Amino acid sequence: MRRAKITVIGAGNVGATCAHWCAAAELGDIVLLDIPGDMADMPRGKALDLRQASPIFGFDSNVVGTNDYADTAGSDVVVITAGIPRKPGMSRDDLLATNAKIMTSVCNEVKSTSPDAVVIVVSNPLDAMVQQAQKVTGFPPERVIGQAGVLDTARYRTFLAMELGVSVEDVSALLMGGHGDTMVPLASCTSVGGIPVTQLIKQDRLDEIIDRTRKGGAEIVGLLKTGSAYYAPAGATAQMVEAVVRDKKRLIPVAAYCDKEYGVGGYYVGVPVILGTGGVEKIVELELTDDEKAAFQKSVDAVKELVGAMASLV
Ligand code: NAI
Ligand code: 2OP
Repeated sequence: MRRAKITVIGAGNVGATCAHWCAAAELGDIVLLDIPGDMADMPRGKALDLRQASPIFGFDSNVVGTNDYADTAGSDVVVITAGIPRKPGMSRDDLLATNAKIMTSVCNEVKSTSPDAVVIVVSNPLDAMVQQAQKVTGFPPERVIGQAGVLDTARYRTFLAMELGVSVEDVSALLMGGHGDTMVPLASCTSVGGIPVTQLIKQDRLDEIIDRTRKGGAEIVGLLKTGSAYYAPAGATAQMVEAVVRDKKRLIPVAAYCDKEYGVGGYYVGVPVILGTGGVEKIVELELTDDEKAAFQKSVDAVKELVGAMASLV
């Protein structure tokens, strides 16, 4: 059977760790690309190092590093992590100008080298970067998606499991909206062992956990000092890669292009979707409460503002 070809652009913390998770799960052959320059050999070094772990963990994925898009040609999935991460005191939006230019140059290459790929954008500010990736590639919107919701939901599930002292496997949750402080937790979609979370945790404590989730990225930045989170973001991205290459049809939140859906009007925002080989196969529309609708709209407005600001920069 032909193995999937997975390209990861940006061989930094998130990119290299994503390659690691994808290789360990034998999701396909992996190409790790970064820019030429002083550190040109870095992706080759990381790829070789990862390849040398294969006998230990027993995976047969080929892993190569490169600075040349020719090596990425015909990829089934392209993950884009290229860009700069946050430093303490910076918001994701502070990254807008630099990363929008990087996203534009990367996507011009992807467009010609891997025209049939599903593109998974990770670079921040996520909701604006994925919009730019779709615009530049011109790929059908269902084939250009962003990673945020899987990470945000994983953080929420972790904090809920820690609070209750239960297995993370028993915590099920869903967050919608943009990747930022306006993300929207859905109480009706949060349960522990099938029990609605509101029966297990008082609302004021739940609000504190939600607040910690919203600030989950900043908490890690504050601890690391030199960059932002990467283990969980890379794991979340690998889960999306798996859904695509194995046609898993996972029902998970991703940044997807919504037009009529949820009345968004042509923007990328985090919503539950069914994800398979073709990318987004369906956007799942839920009945939201009035409060959830208002919170979601606030999140969409923040995304619109960001996309508007980006238009003057690229
Ligand atoms: P990093 O600095 O460790 O790695 C970024 C890599 O991108 C560097 O190796 C750099 O050389 C490379 N790069 C820069 N310009 C490039 C170009 N034109 N072509 C190819 N490679 C290029 O940063 P890290 O921690 O890996 O984060 C990457 C991005 O992902 C950041 O924008 C960060 O904010 C974002 N992020 C998003 C998350 C999400 O949930 N959506 C979670 C975590 C990080
Ligand atoms: C995070 O949420 C920085 O977006 C990144 O960790």
